[in-house]
Amino acid sequence: MLQRVTRSTIIDAPIDRVWAVLRDFNSHDQWHDVVDQSRIEGDESSAQVGCVRSFSLKDGNRIREQLLTLDDRQYKSTYCIVEATVPLERYVATVTLKPVTDGNRTFWHWESTFASPPGRERELHDMVAQGVYEAGFENLRRHLRSGGDLHAPGASHAVPMPTALPVATRCVTVRAYGEADQLVAGDAEVAAPADHEVRIRQRAIGVNFIDVYLRRGWIPPMLGPGGTPGMEAAGSVLDVGTGVTGWMPGDRVAYLGPAPGAYCGVRNVPADWLVRLPATVDDDTAAALLLKGLTADYLLRDLGRVQRGTRLLVHAAAGGVGLLVCAWARRLGAIVIGTVSSEQKALLARAHGCETVIVTRDYRFADAVQRHCGGADVVIDGLGDTAFDENLAALALCGHWISLGQASGALRKVDPELLLHKSLSFSRPVVFHYVATRAALAERAQRLWDALADGTLKRPPIERHSLEAAAQAHERLESRRTSGALVLLA
Ligand SMILES: NC(=O)c1ccc[n+]([C@@H]2O[C@H](COP(=O)([O-])OP(=O)(O)OC[C@H]3O[C@@H](n4cnc5c(N)ncnc54)[C@H](OP(=O)(O)O)[C@@H]3O)[C@@H](O)[C@H]2O)c1
Repeated sequence: MLQRVTRSTIIDAPIDRVWAVLRDFNSHDQWHDVVDQSRIEGDESSAQVGCVRSFSLKDGNRIREQLLTLDDRQYKSTYCIVEATVPLERYVATVTLKPVTDGNRTFWHWESTFASPPGRERELHDMVAQGVYEAGFENLRRHLRSGGDLHAPGASHAVPMPTALPVATRCVTVRAYGEADQLVAGDAEVAAPADHEVRIRQRAIGVNFIDVYLRRGWIPPMLGPGGTPGMEAAGSVLDVGTGVTGWMPGDRVAYLGPAPGAYCGVRNVPADWLVRLPATVDDDTAAALLLKGLTADYLLRDLGRVQRGTRLLVHAAAGGVGLLVCAWARRLGAIVIGTVSSEQKALLARAHGCETVIVTRDYRFADAVQRHCGGADVVIDGLGDTAFDENLAALALCGHWISLGQASGALRKVDPELLLHKSLSFSRPVVFHYVATRAALAERAQRLWDALADGTLKRPPIERHSLEAAAQAHERLESRRTSGALVLLA
């Protein structure tokens, strides 16, 4: 009969730091007292499912174990004994980590099932429960306290110090400017972080419409053929370069920055781009919200000066930026009117605070806006050229047209004479200029997390694609069939 052993504990360290040690199938001789030596057989890496490790234990026993599963998203691995001098038969074990929500700590669950020879059940149960699992908990705590994981030789995933080796990853590049199928995934190596840089293991990458412009070749100075798009991601710090203060391996972070390159599993970025993630915000939500939420923040608070009674027209009101702008503007007391292209999107926009929704696929909205409220004080326009004339017609006297994007086509030059007729103003902002200092970034990010926590912003729908399927994500975004945000999972 099989018996089961389960043990759990809380480790006082961030989950990514704990996982960096435990996911390494060849690390036990560095931290577990019962293991004398560990080596991976053949030429395989310790992260290769199917690899076999050979342990010699300090009591003279030998065990060969095989890695069966390794899941970096679920923080879970499974392994089994294939051969041992201790009579643990059909032994299969699982290690699972979960973040502890109140603080940067980790819940670690370790369990196994196995058969043992008659009469030795109790002895072997206690050996696994106490000698392996409970002792392992204590040994790992000691290892982390001493910083042993930071200096472990050959610990490629275990937060190396500045002398660290390159890390292999997957990366998406634009083969040549063009359609979505020009996005291709390939292998890449990420060097150790340079001075003032942080190397990040990315788990969720935000997809933004600017990624499409870059892929199409609309902004060549920002991205040439062969380059990697992507302006934001969330994950955890792998290691830091010299001169970096305030960030530790294992810290959960997200970033946005003016240089593309986020479509990959591991990336170096300047430490100044980072924001710390609250425990309540998971990686997917952070990647879905950071760039878009900070955009909503500067649009409403600084550029649009939206307040009670402001008549606000929001295009693509059910989109990634649109839903956040609607919800936040409504909380500020604005009169929120949105345009969307389908009834389904209208429902969603309404649920996120857009009081009046105009459903139009062909960019006809000015009459409806004028009829509804006498014109818009502020237009938040990511549509671009196709909505050019209608935007001018929809604005009230002294209105402000904020052109933040061009999903429908590149905006033609704006003739100042066109603004004269109604004393209009025109802005062409870029989010990165509004988070150009650490203080501005930290302040805006804090407002975003607060707005999420107090219910001002609802979590938007998130459409998830794998990093390998970046092309498919772009096709979806360009098809006008998405609502909310898209993220790539690395
Ligand atoms: N300047 C900045 O700081 C900044 C920062 C972030 C985003 N942006 C801009 O804000 C806009 C929204 O970005 P997002 O990432 O949140 O995208 P999104 O709004 O989720 O997706 C774009 C939406 O635009 C609408 N659209 C209208 N005509 C389109 C067309 N021909 N092709 C594709 N979409 C069309 C669609 O909504 P309907 O079908 O409902 O019309 C579509 O869902 C973009 O223009 C982006 O460049 C600017």
